[in-house]
Amino acid sequence: MPKVKFVKDIKEGEQVKDLFLVSGKTVLSSNAGKAYINLALRDRTGQLECRVWDRAEEIAKRFDRDDIVEATGSAIQYQGRIQLKVHDVRKVEEEAELADFLPVTRRGIEPLWEELQAQVKGVKDPDLSRLLTTIFPDPPDTEEARRFRQAPAGKSMHHDYIGGLLEHTVSVAAICRFLSGHYEEVDGDMLIAGALLHDIGKVRELSYEGAFDYTDEGRLLGHLTMGAEWVSGECARIEGFSPHKAILLKHMILSHHGELEYGSPKRPKTLEAILLHFVENMDSKANAFLEAMGNLREGAVWTDYQRMFERYLYAGKKRE
Ligand SMILES: [Fe+2]
Ligand SMILES: [Fe+2]
Repeated sequence: MPKVKFVKDIKEGEQVKDLFLVSGKTVLSSNAGKAYINLALRDRTGQLECRVWDRAEEIAKRFDRDDIVEATGSAIQYQGRIQLKVHDVRKVEEEAELADFLPVTRRGIEPLWEELQAQVKGVKDPDLSRLLTTIFPDPPDTEEARRFRQAPAGKSMHHDYIGGLLEHTVSVAAICRFLSGHYEEVDGDMLIAGALLHDIGKVRELSYEGAFDYTDEGRLLGHLTMGAEWVSGECARIEGFSPHKAILLKHMILSHHGELEYGSPKRPKTLEAILLHFVENMDSKANAFLEAMGNLREGAVWTDYQRMFERYLYAGKKRE
């Protein structure tokens, strides 16, 4: 049973009967004490807010978050957005094409992986080079490398699609490569190694087999600590790895969010760490900006409120 209609094409007044991934499900109780379901259904083009008003308790038992379901309902307009009033939900047991339901990087996993490998090969320092080829083996024949290629860079903030972490990493490394030629004092190998490894902890911080979410370990430790621990372990396994370099590298990972209130236990204190922080911040913001423009409602000149920026963004730049 293939998917026919995608979220972005659903219009007010339409009757919908199609496949979606359940990305949220909460059973609530109305003022009158009647149960209803708050449902989020998604596919690769977006997410739909939905309500199930009738037979909610019975319908809620049939499926869970991360299931693929067939939902039947009617599209209504609610506070300027399309919402689905769902009449029925049925769990789909047969194997579905996951790429229909989760967004994927437009730049392609393979070309991005090749770019990452070129960055790895550019690192000449023997310690850092060994570390990088261990974590990013070519071909990607470890479970971790396979997961790294698939992982999103975030749940909702930026690069929140399959391959997003790889895309973000490659982009940050490319800008850092430029900066290592621009500022004479920069240790280029250290900067590139930091760029390639800065978000590696996200491989374990996020789960993305179904809807994107944080793992328990991710919520409890966060990707900075997880990344630093991971790199620490790998450095210790490489014979003769310089302890000083290991510290500088871990410092870059732990400080890349820049400020204590953004989750960094230490603020950047080397030139490489300072540059990495600004570059990765810039790359996430530029990506979030472009995504917001891509999600613009037809004819709109302003985006919806953007939590990451704490403001509305202007899309009317190209007007005559
Ligand atoms: Fe990060
Ligand atoms: Fe990042």
